[in-house]
Amino acid sequence: MEYKKLGKTKERLSAIGIGTWQLSGNTEENERAISLAIEKGINLIDTAEIYRTENTVGKIIKGKKLFIATKVWATHFRYDAVIKACDRSLKNLGIKQIDLYQLHWPNPGISIKETMKAMEKLVYDGKIRYIGVSNFNQKELRNAQEALSRYEIVSNQVEYNLIERMPEINLIDYMKKEDITLLAYSPFAHGAIFKKRYGGIIQSIDELGEKYNKTAGQMLLRWLIQKDIVIPLTKASNPRHMQENIAAADFNINQKDMEIMDNLTPKDSNAGLSRFKNLIEYYLFIRALIRL
Ligand SMILES: NC(=O)c1ccc[n+]([C@@H]2O[C@H](COP(=O)([O-])OP(=O)(O)OC[C@H]3O[C@@H](n4cnc5c(N)ncnc54)[C@H](OP(=O)(O)O)[C@@H]3O)[C@@H](O)[C@H]2O)c1
Repeated sequence: MEYKKLGKTKERLSAIGIGTWQLSGNTEENERAISLAIEKGINLIDTAEIYRTENTVGKIIKGKKLFIATKVWATHFRYDAVIKACDRSLKNLGIKQIDLYQLHWPNPGISIKETMKAMEKLVYDGKIRYIGVSNFNQKELRNAQEALSRYEIVSNQVEYNLIERMPEINLIDYMKKEDITLLAYSPFAHGAIFKKRYGGIIQSIDELGEKYNKTAGQMLLRWLIQKDIVIPLTKASNPRHMQENIAAADFNINQKDMEIMDNLTPKDSNAGLSRFKNLIEYYLFIRALIRL
């Protein structure tokens, strides 16, 4: 298993992390898929209070030494609400300390200074080890960092895959400069990349993959892993998918083929969840106003 550094810290995270959004259906199968990943050396598991999977994750990680990331939802960004949400997550997960606690989505209705004050208190009290954010653009990330007085943001979790390339516009350069890890969620665009509409892209990747004896899914994950500061978070309920995905941490795509993949879609390709970003932030803003 290949490992990558987290931000400016000395933490070594597996080159692939396991996401747990929409773990549904057959719980036993989900648990088997995640346990298999852990056996193969995956040490990063990502969840969130809003996914309602912290209990399942807690059950699977019990007694194991892993790096656990979870998130506080944007409507809980007031000082007291952050502290309470963290206590709930610790309880759900059955652990004493969360390794990475992330602000799930920017909330323009609540001062980031207030939220970050609570996050710093959580680090100070030993309830969390590192502070991260998610779905923050470059400006929001800079503001979040400036709102912290004692600690630094180690990661920003955003959607990034071959058909959702908005982070390449200016976010990645900024994060590289600041040495902040990019946790790339939905490396398969929620599975949409395998749908008919992207058939041409997948066919080209399949052809490239033949040289490496790898599937399109493995090529897509590897394309992300080979980018500096990027760690993809994949979710697979199916143990066969999980096994296939983990094997993406152990091969190399040569520079020429990386460039061929880079050129399969335009850099401003925008097909993912981030299309709804402004809408979600507007909703959070209005909701916060109504509550005042
Ligand atoms: N921070 C945020 O706002 C945010 C938002 C979205 C997601 N995330 C995180 O990122 C994680 C991953 O994102 P995601 O769940 O949207 O999507 P994803 O990893 O892009 O795609 C998951 C889908 O792809 C399928 N799949 C997985 N491996 C495959 C393979 N090798 N071949 C074919 N199909 C495959 C899965 O099927 P099976 O399940 O049947 O195996 C599932 O339907 C989430 O679980 C969550 O932790 C974070």
